[in-house]
Amino acid sequence: MSKNRVTRRQFLSYTLTGVGGFMAAGMLMPMVRFAVDPVLKADAGGEFIPTKQKAADLTSEPVRVDFTFKEKDAWYESEVTNTAWIYKDDSGKIVALSPICKHLGCTVNWNTDKAHPNQFFCPCHFGRYEKNGKNIPGTPPPQPLDLYPVKEKDGFILLGKAQPRTEV
Ligand code: FES
Repeated sequence: MSKNRVTRRQFLSYTLTGVGGFMAAGMLMPMVRFAVDPVLKADAGGEFIPTKQKAADLTSEPVRVDFTFKEKDAWYESEVTNTAWIYKDDSGKIVALSPICKHLGCTVNWNTDKAHPNQFFCPCHFGRYEKNGKNIPGTPPPQPLDLYPVKEKDGFILLGKAQPRTEV
């Protein structure tokens, strides 16, 4: 009889270890995948979202532009609508500002405060910003409005992910 013969006990031990390991992997893999899935996803930060705003229609007066895109959070996909205030500055450069107030996140509007015309105004705590998004000292917002990266394609404006700024 060969010395390498597998005993019944060894056979059972190998088989149970193999089956147990297979079952454990089957249970652990979804958990590991759940934990690392967002990390493995491609960064959506570099994507530009098309808007219905024609570049040629922009003037020096900020206009409100709403744009919609699909956002995937793990397995949940939803449709999100964001807003930008877009205008052309004195040099003709297109500027797109986030409407989210840097104080506590309310939505700012252009030129709605009669006492301070041609500024962005936040009605929640009377925050104000200059046209370029710079926060006005003495009002609550601590930072300038975020700035969207802008691209043009076929005459329409595309917007990237809004970026925070420390100064303007
Ligand atoms: S949230 Fe805009 S001023 Fe407070």
